[in-house]
Amino acid sequence: MNPRIALVTGANRGIGVETCRQLLAAGYRVILTSRDKQKGTDAARRLDGTGAGVAFHPLDVSQPASIETLQQFVEQEYGRLDVLVNNAAIHYDTWQEVTAPDFAVVQEAITTNLLGPWRLCAAFLPLMRRNRWGRIVNVSSGSGALHSMGSETPAYGITKAALNALTIKLARATARDGILANAVCPGWVRTDMGGPAAPRSVEQGAASVLWAVQLPDDGPTGGFFRNGKRLEW
Ligand SMILES: NC(=O)c1ccc[n+]([C@@H]2O[C@H](COP(=O)([O-])OP(=O)(O)OC[C@H]3O[C@@H](n4cnc5c(N)ncnc54)[C@H](OP(=O)(O)O)[C@@H]3O)[C@@H](O)[C@H]2O)c1
Repeated sequence: MNPRIALVTGANRGIGVETCRQLLAAGYRVILTSRDKQKGTDAARRLDGTGAGVAFHPLDVSQPASIETLQQFVEQEYGRLDVLVNNAAIHYDTWQEVTAPDFAVVQEAITTNLLGPWRLCAAFLPLMRRNRWGRIVNVSSGSGALHSMGSETPAYGITKAALNALTIKLARATARDGILANAVCPGWVRTDMGGPAAPRSVEQGAASVLWAVQLPDDGPTGGFFRNGKRLEW
C-alpha cells in the first residue's frame, strides 16, 4: 500500500515539528505546514535532508483562503489525505481574567484554536471519506476539561473545551466513514507555549499525538486522551 499522507498544522516548532519527525520515522509521508514560509521550509529541511518524505506548504489556520489553497494543493498533488493533526494554537492567556478579558485576544484564540481546526476538518473530510479511511487528531489540553475547569487562561481554556465539543460532533458525523476523530492532550510540555519548567519533553508530547494517529480501525473515536489513556471531559 502507498504510504499514508499526514498533514500537521503549526509544525515549524514545538510539538508540531516533533509530531512530523515521529510521523516520518513511522513511515508516513508528511505535509509540514506553517504560517511563516521560511520557518516552515527550514523545519522541513532539518527533518528530512533528502526531501523525500516531507513536503512543506504554507498555512495560516486563521485564514480561510489559506486553508482553501492548501486543500487544492493536497487534492492535486496527492489526491488523498489520511491523517490531519490540528496542532496550531495560540494565547495560553495566563495574564487574563475571565471577568475582564481583552476580547481581541479572545477573538483571535477562537479564530485560531477552534475555527481553524473546524475549517480544516471541513476542507479535508471529503478526501478522507473518498477512501473511507482517516484519522483526525485535535491537539487539545487539560485546560479544556470541564470537570476540573478553573477561572484561569479563559480564552485558551474555553477554545479547547469547544475544540473537544467539535471533536465529539465530528466523530458522530463520521462514525460510519472509517474515520476516527479524537482530542489529545500532550501534557505539560517544554515548548515556547509550555515554558522551560514543564515536566514533559516534546518527544513525550508528540508520542501522545502519534498514539491517536496510529489507532487501529476498531479504535476509539470521539474521545479525549493523554498517553493513550482516556481523560474526563
Ligand atoms: N506545551 C504545552 O504544555 C501544551 C499543553 C497542552 C496542550 N498543548 C497544545 O499543543 C499544541 C502545540 O503546542 P506547542 O506547545 O508546541 O506550542 P508552540 O510552541 O507555541 O507552537 C505553536 C505553533 O502553532 C503555530 N501557530 C499559531 N497560530 C497559527 C496560525 N494562525 N496558523 C498556523 N500556525 C499557527 C505557531 O506558529 P508560529 O511559529 O508562526 O507562531 C507554532 O508553530 C497546541 O495546540 C497547544 O495548545 C500544549
